[in-house]
Amino acid sequence: MPIHALNRAWFLETPQSSYALGVTATGHLQHWHWGAKIAPTDLGQMRPVLIRSFSPIPADGPEMFSPDTMPAEFPSASGADFRSPAVEVELADGTACLDLRYQSHRLIAGKTPIEGLPSTYVEHEEEASTLQIELLDAPSQIAAILSYTAFTGHDAIARSVRIENRGTKPVRLKRVFCASIDLPEASAERWLHLAGSWARETGVNIAPLGPGCQSIASRRGVSSHQHNPFFALLGHGAKEEQGEVWGFSLVYSGNFLATVERDQFALTRAQIGINPEGFAWQLLPGASFQAPEVVLVYSAAGLGAMSRTYHRLFRTRLLRGPLRDTLRPIALNNWESTYFTFDAPTILALAQQARALGAELLMLDDGWFGKRDDDKSSLGDWTPHARKLPDGLRAMVDGVRATGVEFGLWFEPEMVSPDSELLRAHPDWTIHSAARRPSLGRNQLILDFGRAEVRDEIYRRIAAILHSAPITYLKWDMNRHLTEVASVGLPPERQGEAAHRHVLGVYAFLERLTAEFPQLCIENCAGGGGRFDPGMLAYTQLTWISDNTDAISRLSIQLGASLVYPLSVMGAHYSAVPNHQVGRVTPPATRGAVAAGCVLGIMLDPAKLATEERAELARWIERHKAWRPLLASGELHRLKDPRQGAEAAWMIVAPDQSEALVFHVRILAEPHGPFQRLRLYGLNPDWVYRDTATGESWRGDALMRHGWIFPDTGDFAAHHWHLRRAD
Ligand code: DGJ
Repeated sequence: MPIHALNRAWFLETPQSSYALGVTATGHLQHWHWGAKIAPTDLGQMRPVLIRSFSPIPADGPEMFSPDTMPAEFPSASGADFRSPAVEVELADGTACLDLRYQSHRLIAGKTPIEGLPSTYVEHEEEASTLQIELLDAPSQIAAILSYTAFTGHDAIARSVRIENRGTKPVRLKRVFCASIDLPEASAERWLHLAGSWARETGVNIAPLGPGCQSIASRRGVSSHQHNPFFALLGHGAKEEQGEVWGFSLVYSGNFLATVERDQFALTRAQIGINPEGFAWQLLPGASFQAPEVVLVYSAAGLGAMSRTYHRLFRTRLLRGPLRDTLRPIALNNWESTYFTFDAPTILALAQQARALGAELLMLDDGWFGKRDDDKSSLGDWTPHARKLPDGLRAMVDGVRATGVEFGLWFEPEMVSPDSELLRAHPDWTIHSAARRPSLGRNQLILDFGRAEVRDEIYRRIAAILHSAPITYLKWDMNRHLTEVASVGLPPERQGEAAHRHVLGVYAFLERLTAEFPQLCIENCAGGGGRFDPGMLAYTQLTWISDNTDAISRLSIQLGASLVYPLSVMGAHYSAVPNHQVGRVTPPATRGAVAAGCVLGIMLDPAKLATEERAELARWIERHKAWRPLLASGELHRLKDPRQGAEAAWMIVAPDQSEALVFHVRILAEPHGPFQRLRLYGLNPDWVYRDTATGESWRGDALMRHGWIFPDTGDFAAHHWHLRRAD
């Protein structure tokens, strides 16, 4: 059992970390420790004085105790803790006080699913233990059930919260964070988060922690291009391969808020959960609200070890279904070669080209339905475009499959165009406020997936298409954000629920889709990485992480995203030059290397390539096929950070260390500079490794402790090595 119970205190153990909490004499739940391993002992005694001037003492409390200075486990609003609360309610009498005290606890073998929300899971009970603690505010009878799962094989703790109204009056839940942790004085010094925008997602930002609050958030209805629902606290000197790191990753795809507050006594309160702005949930007597899960990862060996824990856990115990452990197909996507202008012969020609190169699937993107010739119409009218596909979709799919590749199809299930049969028939099916004209984003509106009748009809239409032809791959896109958020399906007192209900509706749709079509490979996309989060990962096999296909831009985007997500779920396409987003011209070897280390795809018309480049692209496809098993299970080491110099480098090592792939890209060449050394990680120092391309060999210790110096190269030049154990 990785959970040890003392007298009203618990130590959760993962292979290399401990998480401890205890109940004070007053019944408050106190955070004790999250970090390197500590044998179970009474840590509560080690912080006997919890009082300073101006610290209020609870009416029934001992004199030396105040919630104001206590490291709390689940702080509530309007009591004697003045820092950011994890839970906030408005009671029926208009007051907001909540004083949650310990009631009971139970230990469960394994992990129970979270109803209605995606979460990590176990396949066998021995993989984890779960602690559930029940807290209660006696006057209002509001209960909080905190759930902690410690994994035996991962340095991860999954936390979630359910709020129950056991009273007799309705209550408004205004905030509930899934995790709130008070790290002790002087542990975290900086915090790291992933920020960006469309086409430049997941930029790594590191900022010092000073007094007060810092936060990142999404108010866009989706997790967003702008901020990923993830952050990490960094201890003294923490960097890629050293130092203490505490990671927080929220398994949720909607509005979120993450805050880090350094209080007056240098405690660091870190919280993440659904964004309270625009959120309010009506809890009738007997009702409960389930908040999403947060996956906490502690690493004593820097950011690299934290990332590898997230990668292993997410790959094996967040992704699910029969396709979880299968290799992702290499797709040729027609978007950048045709945009909206194509017909059946164009697509068939692309399929033939794809097959000739060794690709495995033709992915037909936007524009195949209704009368969609640009982005101004037809979303929601999921029937084949009469002019582009005159013989129907089945003929298109059969034609593509006859060339020897499988067929994939684009949908934007949550969207509707004002110019569509669907909206004309159901003008009130969108998320909108009845008194206002809705804002348009990319000329489209959002269907209210919080309403079962809306998503059932869309489901019926999409399922009919999927049943009509052998379609093995679906790209789920989402190209605008939620505005004027309101639902005609909700009474006035429940309008604050609309955004979260939409997210729940998307999950319910995906549950149904993955249950009915378990062999369908789903690519998650929201204008690139606008909804790249663990919630969507639970239902999809890969994510299109950016609309930016430029190899140099992709270095920062992919390596930034790799802080949390494995490269093996990131779609990366070899595309044309000059690049469509930034106009840059990069060599084929660089475009190949940057894409082939993720889930390789193609986004150009191969017929337009010179013969040599076509042959080079075919070689990248062949290499990717050979590397796929290693990419799917290998451990990532980031070697050189593209934001900190003129180079990027990373490597992927087989779990048994017998094989590794190393990539290096020189971004801009410098004249007469210092010689550049590349030192590797994760190999066995005592083994000899041979490069499969050149036959050259080196000892593991030399590669890791001394490193290579290799020749200066020009701008945007890439090298890669495929090393195999030789002795
Ligand atoms: C945005 C996606 O990110 C692109 O790949 C493409 O599918 C377009 N939408 C189509 O509208």
